[in-house]
Amino acid sequence: MKNVSGLAATAQALVAPGKGILAADESFPTIGKRFAALGVAATAENRRAYREVLFRTAALGESISGAILFDETLRQRTGSGDATLTELLVRQGIIPGIKVDTGTGPLPGSPHEKITGGLEALPVRLTAYAALGARFTKWRAVLAITPDGQPSRACLDANAAALADFAAFSQAAGLVPIVEPEVLLAGRHSLARSEDVAVAVLDAVFRALAAKQVSLPGLLLKTGMVLPGAEAPGSVTTADIAAATWRVLRRTVPAAVPGIVFLSGGQPEIAATERLNALCATHDLPWTLSFSFGRALQDTALKTWRGEAANTAAAQAALLHRARCNALAVQGKYSAAAESAAA
Ligand code: 13P
Repeated sequence: MKNVSGLAATAQALVAPGKGILAADESFPTIGKRFAALGVAATAENRRAYREVLFRTAALGESISGAILFDETLRQRTGSGDATLTELLVRQGIIPGIKVDTGTGPLPGSPHEKITGGLEALPVRLTAYAALGARFTKWRAVLAITPDGQPSRACLDANAAALADFAAFSQAAGLVPIVEPEVLLAGRHSLARSEDVAVAVLDAVFRALAAKQVSLPGLLLKTGMVLPGAEAPGSVTTADIAAATWRVLRRTVPAAVPGIVFLSGGQPEIAATERLNALCATHDLPWTLSFSFGRALQDTALKTWRGEAANTAAAQAALLHRARCNALAVQGKYSAAAESAAA
């Protein structure tokens, strides 16, 4: 019997007022790409050193509620061996979580689309992750918008079914699932097309969750802001983006879901914070809105660190600044003055 009230309490803590989630769960290929751009070697030692810089950032727990880790990180100890990286988070009051999908592969029948894998033996891995201190999980589905009509119905349904299985297994293991369908930014599609796709994606996800009897108060939804394609002509305002995103969420997300956390998806850091601020500057919604940013929290911090121990304090200052700006944004209190004042 799953402990529904314990799950709900953890989900609520992850969207506590004025706090959001640090996504630091880059897989080996992804962190490898980010390191390569800076000339940092993709070794276990460098990945440990970088994540240790992030998690030792003083006062990070004032604006960060939880951190999503990759499998390797959950098992690593600090350079001096005095603690696990997970313990650094717990000392700051930050809840450790774990990415449990194993990445994407071609969708059978529609090989240009992607299906996320990792369900095989998932319950066994979840038990091990809980023993290592994880209290929540994340699974990311990836959907691309193309001029010829993708994502297909088959892609929507297959990914929604996998997300629902992942969520059911996580709750059975006492872990709060963060259900993440990501609609990619790449493309020339309009804001209106993005809105239609987001409705179809989230509708499929919540039908699948209902079919698997997943407890809605014991999960969080992680999804993108509704944006036009990165290569779309013309421009849209922050107000247009907020209005489209609210319409999609109101149409598709049941009020029993405690929180919706946005991914940054490749948006520049400051644009992501400004849009988050606009999205959160209303009290007229049934769920708490917050952030679960990877790049939009880490970009400047990683570029500042660049693999050099001497840059640790400056990198931590950059991370803390972005975390504080986004914490202001979830309260609708972010401003240009806040951006420059704390920098
Ligand atoms: P970004 O904020 O960089 O999109 O990363 C969030 C994430 O967790 C993607 O799975």
